[in-house]
Amino acid sequence: MAKLIDGRAIAEKVYVDLRREIAELKSKGVTPGLAVILVGDNPASRAYVRSKDKMCRDLGLHSVKLELPTSTTQAELLARVKALNLDSAIHGILVQSPPPKQIDEALIVRALDPRKDVDGFHPENIAKLALGDPTGLVPCTPLGVQRLLIESKIDIDGAHAVILGRSMIVGKPLALLLMQKSKNANATITVVHSRSRDLEKITRSADILIAAIGQPNFVKAEHVGDGAVVIDVGINRLEDAASERGYRLVGDVAFDEVAGKAAAITPVPGGVGPMTIAMLMSNTVKAAGAISLA
Ligand code: GUN
Repeated sequence: MAKLIDGRAIAEKVYVDLRREIAELKSKGVTPGLAVILVGDNPASRAYVRSKDKMCRDLGLHSVKLELPTSTTQAELLARVKALNLDSAIHGILVQSPPPKQIDEALIVRALDPRKDVDGFHPENIAKLALGDPTGLVPCTPLGVQRLLIESKIDIDGAHAVILGRSMIVGKPLALLLMQKSKNANATITVVHSRSRDLEKITRSADILIAAIGQPNFVKAEHVGDGAVVIDVGINRLEDAASERGYRLVGDVAFDEVAGKAAAITPVPGGVGPMTIAMLMSNTVKAAGAISLA
């Protein structure tokens, strides 16, 4: 059986360090502030926004939660972002994805002050990641995956990391992060996706396999080589009448069969999810330091 990588426990370690950094900033008169904007009423997005707000409060950060109706126009949302760009109590701004269809997400991201772009989605931050410039903000889920590997003492240096999925939120930035010429990176990266030939052959050759395709239970035992480390980024809601909420969460990995083959594996929930929020808090503290102490 694979060793279980406990994302909740590792996130707690991150918070111990963060609380110290937050106390230090507060002693200099700075309280890091995060604004999260939710447009519409997607149930999964509502749940994410609620947990981000709660975590801010737990850590003593200033938290602003803006819940806007589904009918919000592009111009209204842009005006909100611009106001938050100018708000000196706010150091991080996140617009929860996906927004309703009338919203052009790419334009909203470009309107963010890149120094407050705690999602790391602004072109300036993506460029800094590609360039290896450490002053940029790196997307939260890729940072969380890297931190899970580091804290679990999994050697990234020289390993073949295969990433399933090429999204701008996870796959692409994770590839850039793990291939960097630096400590805790230096991996050989392969990105596979829905159009890849011989997908199974490639995933089987991975030392570290990271699934981020948003398809429940996609990765089966035959996708995984003996002794691989498997990181499951997927959070899919499957209808389940037996569950109180009417659904249960499953990852992109068929956990039971893959756990029989892998050396280590993350559960869903309790793996990457808690780390993503921890890295959002970390990015907010980093942004607050960079903006207010500049
Ligand atoms: N929706 C799913 N993941 C994310 C994320 O990391 N950031 C934002 N803004 N929306 C998301």
